[in-house]
Amino acid sequence: MVALKQMPHAVLPSATLDEAARQAFINQLGKHVLNDITPGNKAVYDKHVLPAFQQTHERAPADRHEIRKEMVRQPYYQMTSSFQRTIQEMMWNAVDESIQRQLPDLIDVAQNIARGKTTGSLTLDPNFEMPGYIKHNDNHATPGGYSADLLPGDVTAGALYDRGAFIYTQGLFGPRMDGIGKAAAMMVSRVRPDLKPKKILEIGCTAGGSTGGLAIMFPEADLHGIDVGAALLRYAHARAESWGLPIHFHQMNAEHMSFADESFDLVCCLATLHETSRNATFNIFKEAFRALRPGGLFLCSELPPYKGVDPWNQFVRDWDTYNNNEPFWGGVHDLELKDVAVAAGFDPTKYFEGNGPGVAQANALTSAVEVENKKFMGSTRGGGQAWYAGVSK
Ligand SMILES: C[S@@+](CC[C@H](N)C(=O)[O-])C[C@H]1O[C@@H](n2cnc3c(N)ncnc32)[C@H](O)[C@@H]1O
Repeated sequence: MVALKQMPHAVLPSATLDEAARQAFINQLGKHVLNDITPGNKAVYDKHVLPAFQQTHERAPADRHEIRKEMVRQPYYQMTSSFQRTIQEMMWNAVDESIQRQLPDLIDVAQNIARGKTTGSLTLDPNFEMPGYIKHNDNHATPGGYSADLLPGDVTAGALYDRGAFIYTQGLFGPRMDGIGKAAAMMVSRVRPDLKPKKILEIGCTAGGSTGGLAIMFPEADLHGIDVGAALLRYAHARAESWGLPIHFHQMNAEHMSFADESFDLVCCLATLHETSRNATFNIFKEAFRALRPGGLFLCSELPPYKGVDPWNQFVRDWDTYNNNEPFWGGVHDLELKDVAVAAGFDPTKYFEGNGPGVAQANALTSAVEVENKKFMGSTRGGGQAWYAGVSK
């Protein structure tokens, strides 16, 4: 079964009966729209859009952009996109409402944890310069995005991500929201069984979900997580400490990190590249190369690239680029990460990419997850497998 109950921790926002009912309703509504209503777009395309395009151009659409130009004019697509976007905003609002009700308490708890005896650490940078692509964008329509830090000790961004992403993914990442990290650790064992990482870095740790998975899978390692948002990191730290996971969180831009050269055996960048700019992706690979020890591994996970995917499925998977405040989504899925790795200094013969363990497998959830995620506009999107790009130094 999909995990529908999130594992409690010290800063997990609670929900009143009314808040829980609203969140559950939005969850079910989202599922219904995704599974039962958006697939109708394929019928609209096959029956109307494609024949009309073929008649005018005497050929099928060459790429997703040509399909999108036609589909955005279709009332059915406008309706389903509007439903999806509205449900997304309703979900964030419902979660935010419950967070704001208890925010002073959550801040107190996080501060008390940070002041007490800890096994990990939290290092914020008061002079941190927020990258523009994060500052000026509310990724996946999250109010305030990753950068909002609105009052002393704020933890809203972390709480929003932890609760919101759990509902948004319908429990897909597991009760601890750590499936991405656990799956990545399984991938490390698969591709580099010789590598027993003593020091690990996760780039883009957000609320500490995937970092927690790495901590569980590599309990002996000295584990560091970096992100740009202070409110994310305060939350991530309190969350990890309350579960006894020793993780060192730092506010740092992955494009220019302050770690010494050759510090880490494993650098992970999980579900993060699509939320950085194209330039940042090149810079992050360079920094990963610099920070890795010889013999170390840089492992990224992402949704699979668009190459080799037919234009309709590319169009379906590109919905977020235009409707979900994910401006880099399409670009990163078009990028040849091997070229990026080589430009950063990595040896092309040590590069690999392909499918590997996914979140469902990592949390031993059943294939129900895969089935439910298969029906987005009548096409495959998400599911039990993850896609990885990795390179050893
Ligand atoms: C989708 S989230 C990652 C999810 C997380 N790995 C997990 O599985 O729980 C992407 C994260 O990357 C962070 N990020 C984007 N650009 C960054 C940069 N240049 N340096 C550090 N973090 C960055 C964002 O702030 C955001 O928290």
